[in-house]
Amino acid sequence: MIDQFGRRITYLRISVIDKCNLRCAYCMPRGAVSTARLAELLTDDELVELAAIFAELGVTKIRLTGGEPLLRPGLAEMVRRLSRLAGITQLAMSTNGVLLKRHAHALKEAGLQRVNVSLDTLSRERFAQITGMDQWQTVVEGILEAKAVGLEPVKVNTVLMKGVNDDEILALVGFAIEQELELRFIEWMPTNPLVDAGREGKFFSNEVAGARIRQHHRLIPDDPDPSAPARSFRVDGTRARVGFINPLSNVFCAMCNRVRLKANGRIKTCLHGLEELDLKTLLREGVPREEISRQIATAVFLRPEQHFLNQPDVAHRSFVMTHVGG
Ligand code: 5AD
Ligand code: SF4
Repeated sequence: MIDQFGRRITYLRISVIDKCNLRCAYCMPRGAVSTARLAELLTDDELVELAAIFAELGVTKIRLTGGEPLLRPGLAEMVRRLSRLAGITQLAMSTNGVLLKRHAHALKEAGLQRVNVSLDTLSRERFAQITGMDQWQTVVEGILEAKAVGLEPVKVNTVLMKGVNDDEILALVGFAIEQELELRFIEWMPTNPLVDAGREGKFFSNEVAGARIRQHHRLIPDDPDPSAPARSFRVDGTRARVGFINPLSNVFCAMCNRVRLKANGRIKTCLHGLEELDLKTLLREGVPREEISRQIATAVFLRPEQHFLNQPDVAHRSFVMTHVGG
């Protein structure tokens, strides 16, 4: 699949459920989000069927996201089915880690290759403040278990917030060095108005984070995947890596190779763009597979060139992170 700007689409992010067992301040603080009823979600069969169509259209990499993907019943079985699809060579998951320790082994066994885990702090108290739940220990144990069963490389995602965890940048890099992980700093991006109110005054830029790290470590540029939104570095003299994801600078739109399938069966061809095609309805109306495939290819072809988050006069499409899966 190629879009109108010549970008080849090879990466499908699938949000398998919009529920989450944490309430991160920058994502879905308590009360901000209502979640879909189970009947509104794609069934396992529908999801695998759509993934197969995307694979036929040239997708080689799938990432499962949420909400929290591990809240979806039977996820390991779904992983097994997805891992067997012709053409899918990479299968990864983004998780908050709360249920990871329990499921890591079965997921690896089912064919999952890698995980990204969110962790914003090394302090148990802060974790509880940021996420609303006292689960720091469980998440760290999940990260270690993922490593132990070979879901590697484990990447840890951190959202920095001014006055909340920006004093932990070096400690987090220390943790990555100690555990031989890739730590990625993600700038807090605007999603929907209920959440964005909290962003005011708390935004922390990756430029500052990078400068702070460079006072203590040499960072050697090393980008294995030019279409990834992260700019990655090896931390000299260690086995750790750090990466920076700056959603507000458009730089990675030009290289973007991804589309998103929401838990409700709609596809989004740009995280910040319009929600497009309702594939669940097409499936449930019995539209032939070839026609669904054709409509996907058309929607993808019409993908916007870039997002407009930096232009104050262009309203971005507000979205709920747990529906879209980042
Ligand atoms: N800005 C940046 N990152 C976010 N995430 C969730 N909401 C936001 C936001 N508003 C991140 C989480 C997690 C990933 C799934 O998305 O930290 O790492
Ligand atoms: Fe936090 Fe991720 Fe859950 Fe959002 S989906 S509340 S970022 S754990």
